[in-house]
Amino acid sequence: MKVLGISMGRRMGNSEILLKQALKACEEEGLEVAFIRLHDYKINPCTGCELCTKLNRAQAADPEHKNPQTHCMYPWDSDDYRQLIDLCEGSDGLILAAPAYHLMPPGIGTVMLNRNHCAGLAGKYWPVPESEHRVCATIGVGGSDWTSLFLPILDFTATEMIGSKMRLVDHMKLHRTPAIGMVLCNQEALDRAKLLGKRVADSLKEGTTYFRGGAEDDGYCPVCHNSVMVVRHGRFACAICDYEGDPVIVDGKIDHINWDGGIEITRWSPAGVQHHDDEQFNVVKFIPGKGYVFTEEQKTAMEEGRKVWGKYLDPVMPKR
Ligand SMILES: Cc1cc2nc3c(=O)[nH]c(=O)nc-3n(C[C@H](O)[C@H](O)[C@H](O)COP(=O)(O)O)c2cc1C
Repeated sequence: MKVLGISMGRRMGNSEILLKQALKACEEEGLEVAFIRLHDYKINPCTGCELCTKLNRAQAADPEHKNPQTHCMYPWDSDDYRQLIDLCEGSDGLILAAPAYHLMPPGIGTVMLNRNHCAGLAGKYWPVPESEHRVCATIGVGGSDWTSLFLPILDFTATEMIGSKMRLVDHMKLHRTPAIGMVLCNQEALDRAKLLGKRVADSLKEGTTYFRGGAEDDGYCPVCHNSVMVVRHGRFACAICDYEGDPVIVDGKIDHINWDGGIEITRWSPAGVQHHDDEQFNVVKFIPGKGYVFTEEQKTAMEEGRKVWGKYLDPVMPKR
């Protein structure tokens, strides 16, 4: 079994050092490990051409196509994305380590995630069969404690990159670590990263996918184990999982949340994917392989609008 570690941080920075602790623990448990620095990989940003949406959906609808190929306007040899996704697909476990940049993971992580739209990896495994038992874990480092959106997005990125549908077995977040490599002065953090690696290894060896993080890392959402909520119609919904529930207040504080049901009603389930598709394709018809099919009324409005808005304001181009 193989565990891939991806660092989005500086060369021999805090993320990388913690990631290496975790990978070493996996290795000590007899697992094969590999490590990459994301900054070494050139990844073209997604342009939203939607070629992948058209073609992957057409192939997914065809039962003969068990493993839909990736489709993209970028030729495969124009960047290193194919190599990256091959490494992810060839791994049973993924550990993603990243610094916080402006409350979030670095942009390079989002560039990687956006390109994943064309790999069709995220939707491939549901329910996760024994033969495709894949898990992930994340490590986050912040210079201060400005990290509110950081771990939820990093967790989402990791589970999408390994196609595990939120099979997150652990996550850790370290604050107040601004200088390069200063995590080496923090034995508690190094030990915590080692434990994270051991938990990934144990999950893979046992064939289980449950969250093994301790109470201090466990958020209110029982699926992604974060606590970033959207308040919708007076109810809570996990911003990551779209899992809805009602907070139960005891002594003026939220004691727990009464969630609606199980993981089968979250974003990560077939019902969640169906909801996503209904939201898009109930407003405009979509034919796999062909694309959007507009009504005459929609066509007229769009043609007229494009004539007007296409002429309005030329973009300011960069000087080169
Ligand atoms: C562009 C940039 C933005 C940052 N934004 C945040 C932030 O919002 N919150 C925070 O806690 N740290 C922030 N930091 C600090 C880094 O998270 C911190 O230095 C971290 O240790 C870097 O990890 P590395 O050594 O693995 O690269 C920022 C650093 C940079 C370069």
